[in-house]
Amino acid sequence: MKKKQPEFQVRQISTRPGDADSGIQPFQLVKYFFYTSLTVILIASFALSWVISNNAKKVLLDRSEAYSELFAENLNRQVFLRFVLPTVIQYGRIALSNKAQFERLDLNVRNVTRGMGIDSVTIFDSNENIISYSTIPDLVGKIDRGGIEYQKALKGENTSVLISSGSLFNILPGTPPVYCKLKTYIPFRGEGKSGERSENIMGVIEVVKDLSGDINAIIELQGRIIILSLLIMGILFGVLSYIVLRADRIIEARADERRLLEEKLNEAERLANLGKMVAAVSHEIKNPLGIVRSTAEILGKRISRVAPGNEHLSGIIVEETARLDSIVREFLDFARPKDPRKESFNLNSLAERVARFVGPELEKKSVELELSLDPELPEIFLDPEQIYQVLLNMVINSIQAMPEGGRIILSTQVDLSGKNIELAVTDNGTGISADKIGQIFTPFFTDKNRGSGLGLAIAKNIIEKHEGRIEVESTEEEGSRFAIILPRPGY
Ligand SMILES: Nc1ncnc2c1ncn2[C@@H]1O[C@H](COP(=O)(O)OP(=O)(O)OP(=O)(O)O)[C@@H](O)[C@H]1O
Ligand SMILES: [Mg+2]
Repeated sequence: MKKKQPEFQVRQISTRPGDADSGIQPFQLVKYFFYTSLTVILIASFALSWVISNNAKKVLLDRSEAYSELFAENLNRQVFLRFVLPTVIQYGRIALSNKAQFERLDLNVRNVTRGMGIDSVTIFDSNENIISYSTIPDLVGKIDRGGIEYQKALKGENTSVLISSGSLFNILPGTPPVYCKLKTYIPFRGEGKSGERSENIMGVIEVVKDLSGDINAIIELQGRIIILSLLIMGILFGVLSYIVLRADRIIEARADERRLLEEKLNEAERLANLGKMVAAVSHEIKNPLGIVRSTAEILGKRISRVAPGNEHLSGIIVEETARLDSIVREFLDFARPKDPRKESFNLNSLAERVARFVGPELEKKSVELELSLDPELPEIFLDPEQIYQVLLNMVINSIQAMPEGGRIILSTQVDLSGKNIELAVTDNGTGISADKIGQIFTPFFTDKNRGSGLGLAIAKNIIEKHEGRIEVESTEEEGSRFAIILPRPGY
């Protein structure tokens, strides 16, 4: 016994074919949200890091440029005062080919640059594009090294140029290091006694400052911003996704509920129409059937006189009309269910009545019936005739499910919650297969040659009118258990 079906009406409806495509399409919000928010998050992270790091880079370059210019001007002054003037006084003219002069200049330059974060200082001649002095000894004497900036400086203009390579990808391991140098060119001029600068340009000073470390730090900052913003937005994304997923599930559940309700309504409408039709047809059949039956009975009496030995022929007509009559009555019961006429009643006495009624049939089919009734069972309000009809149909179903004989247990009890009374019919018959169990309450579903398939449909109507329910458990080849559960008023 494993297939538990507490809410037969809901299950029946939900197993109807075509449900999947007839309902509302599943809500696509989650998918839509996932893709758009992921794109927005990625774009926002990169844009944010780009704006911040670009800003930092610009500030750094502006500052470095101003600093380099100031430094170059200061170098100009120091070199002029401490080298040019004393040298001219001592030697009469400047000639850097003279080792002593060169070393004096070198000493002065190195004194000024020490600890200032300057990479190299180079001084170009003003008459020809040749390097007269450089802190990088190899460069001294090289010609045509001063580019357009050299020319501009000769015209009295200060310029800076940035030579760099490297991007965000340089933070990845295995990539070449970032390279960034700021070159500043200023004209080298003499100075008057009070510090005023002369118009005479004696050469061009090139100051190179290495900014690789700073740029590297900015690129690292950029990377950190991206990771941090991705992390924050990832968390945000997770939280939002969770909310949207939940909302999506609720919306889907609502849609399912609505679909079920619609189907239930359709089913109810279909059954109502079916009921009307069945009622009309059954009503029309009922009267002629009565006439056929009484005519056959009269005919039977006459046949016994005219053609003795053939009475069984009219007997067949009587028997079959009786069967048809009971089917028509069942149809009418189903089509026009009567409202229950409730009275306080003990289910035990109904069970005993059914047991008495089916006694002869049980003997014929070699079925044993055991009564397991709760002697303390409280009375409840019910329509005894209707519940009797339900129970009788269930017991007959059980007998029919045991063609080789078997055992039926009729039991009553108050359920564990104390709020309901349970009346159960248990058999060890054929059981019901998983694909059939969903249909047994559907009107006209039967696997019997002579069944109408209305027994359980009527039972369901009646029990629903009593505000109760039917629970079925069944295992093929082992047996079934049908439990009628009726509420105890006031509990
Ligand atoms: N105890 C049972 N064991 C096995 N199958 C059952 C049992 N009770 C019901 N069924 C299945 O459920 C079907 C529907 O039962 P229902 O009582 O509604 O109609 P029926 O017995 O076929 O016909 P009717 O009761 O109208 O003569 C049955 O045909 C049978 O297949
Ligand atoms: Mg039946």
